Amino acid sequence: MGVLEGRTALVTGAASGIGYAAVEAFLDEGARVFAVDRNSAGMAPLARRGAFTRPADFADAAAAAETVQEAVLALPSLDIVFANAGMVRNALAAEMDDAAWEEQLAVNLSAPFRLARSAAPYLAQSPAGRFLVTASVMAEGTNYGLAGYCASKTGVLGLVRTLALEWGKHGVTANAILPGAIATGMTKPLWEAHPEIAELWAKKAALRRVGQPEDVARLAVFLASDAASFITGQAIAVDGGLTLRV
Ligand SMILES: NC(=O)c1ccc[n+]([C@@H]2O[C@H](COP(=O)([O-])OP(=O)(O)OC[C@H]3O[C@@H](n4cnc5c(N)ncnc54)[C@H](O)[C@@H]3O)[C@@H](O)[C@H]2O)c1
Repeated sequence: MGVLEGRTALVTGAASGIGYAAVEAFLDEGARVFAVDRNSAGMAPLARRGAFTRPADFADAAAAAETVQEAVLALPSLDIVFANAGMVRNALAAEMDDAAWEEQLAVNLSAPFRLARSAAPYLAQSPAGRFLVTASVMAEGTNYGLAGYCASKTGVLGLVRTLALEWGKHGVTANAILPGAIATGMTKPLWEAHPEIAELWAKKAALRRVGQPEDVARLAVFLASDAASFITGQAIAVDGGLTLRV
């Protein structure tokens, strides 16, 4: 029997990378899954495996509430929310326009907040409510061109800590996952064009490799499962030791 047998889960950013791997892992562990992404075609194989799928663009402020309502109708309960959809716009701070700044805050920070707000009553009714969000090791460090991305990912840590505090009385946990350098749609195009960049990330990690989406999905399964019922308000890195060295 899977560790998520009988549980229902909403996963965003499900068409690619970490979200796609998380949907597969949740299905493997027995959960019913409502998968969401702005890229419908990317979710077709997940639909064939039995996931409900729905297109939504989280740059749109109304998308989170609509998504939760549709998930609850389809599933028809909600034990796990994995707010994972995210994007990056690289630009030096002095050159970043408002649109790039605001899109990163909308998708990476405001959408997780709005998903949490809409899902709150359903998670509180669940015997094992779980809110997970994909932040980044860039929530605790930074690099050139990442002002908007880092601000959004650091903001998410404040969000989950506060949710953990406010929702603890219902037995609902809230945690942030901090991936390191992972081979996904976000990184692969650059790494394939410039393999030396992937090699550099691999060399920096204690485990001498970049991560795969499944490395992150396994942490999501653990945090969603009963095994993690006393872990809340935490920011947990899955980075192969990338951030150990100072
Ligand atoms: N890949 C890495 O190295 C890395 C490292 C740290 C954190 N992350 C985070 O992991 C999460 C997943 O990204 P990934 O690496 O799997 O990348 P990915 O590009 O493979 O997947 C991201 C998914 O989110 C979807 N998405 C993006 N913007 C959206 C929007 N406005 N509305 C709906 N869907 C949208 C995309 O269509 C895509 O399917 C993101 O939050 C990202 O910031 C990734």
